[in-house]
Amino acid sequence: MDSSMWSTEDEAIITTNTEATECKRCAVELGYWKDEYICYFAKRGERKAPEINRGYYARVRAMEMFIHQFLERCGTKCQIINLGCGFDTLYWRLKDTTQAVSNFIELDFPAVTSKKCHIIKRNKQLLEKICKEDGEVAFRAGELHADGYHLVGCDLRCPGEVRRQLAAAGAGALPTLLLAECVLVYLRPAAADALLRELAAAFAQLALLVYEQCNLADRFGDVMRRQLGARGVPAPGAHAAPPAAQAARLLALGFDAARAWDMEAVWRALPDDDRARAERLEPLDERELLQQLHRHYALTLATRGALLADMDLLC
Ligand SMILES: C[S@@+](CC[C@H](N)C(=O)[O-])C[C@H]1O[C@@H](n2cnc3c(N)ncnc32)[C@H](O)[C@@H]1O
Repeated sequence: MDSSMWSTEDEAIITTNTEATECKRCAVELGYWKDEYICYFAKRGERKAPEINRGYYARVRAMEMFIHQFLERCGTKCQIINLGCGFDTLYWRLKDTTQAVSNFIELDFPAVTSKKCHIIKRNKQLLEKICKEDGEVAFRAGELHADGYHLVGCDLRCPGEVRRQLAAAGAGALPTLLLAECVLVYLRPAAADALLRELAAAFAQLALLVYEQCNLADRFGDVMRRQLGARGVPAPGAHAAPPAAQAARLLALGFDAARAWDMEAVWRALPDDDRARAERLEPLDERELLQQLHRHYALTLATRGALLADMDLLC
């Protein structure tokens, strides 16, 4: 897609990546979690409020917990597809463990993948994790293709483009983890449904993790919507409904099983040590505010196939 076809709304959606990356960098620098790579992707911004940092920690820790469960069941012969990847650093973080996967495919608007390519090219610490011995890294037209890592541009609202790009990135019949971290909210529900229906049909052993807003039908939810609107960011997929409705929606799209939790439930399910450590890092003036935030974000897990059927929130 040529950049003259981007709307102002698309431009605003693209800036949400900058914000997410800066928030993650801030929380990493305060010690919430380790990420040696985030500093390449975001400048050091203003310190965020403790509730924001804590919210990002819960989000990243919860995604990691389920990613780990997926890898425990599949080993390394599997693939991860990161929808609306932004500047996420998961590929590099996994490379530093024994859990690097056979193929890792990242998709976002070309404007984002081009910038990510540029940053990777400029930073040896990022590039060297992608290059295998004698392996080639091909940068072309804002995309990167290497053995086991593909960063490709496409519009997730166009399932045909997604299909073509996944094929070009070598997506195969392996157990697959699909990540949609704060992404589907920017798609109209019909477009998100078309995308997920197609992806559910494409992979027999599949887990999907969706992190996004929920329960927006109350006053707090209304404020969240207005804040997005004030920044010109359209969020047609923002859920007024509770998490259970999101799970039901995924079942109707072809997944065998689906469960969803608000982030307050996820937070309480984290190991006591993790919660206590986060609580020591920064005191909260208003506990209630964090609880409200947590009740307005949900993590949804949907699976297909027997291998992944027992993934769950471990309480
Ligand atoms: C809030 S950021 C989240 C980035 C990353 N998943 C994370 O959690 O750090 C949302 C990302 O979704 C991407 N996105 C939203 N709508 C998209 C679409 N229709 N096609 C491709 N990417 C899209 C944006 O460009 C942006 O990078």
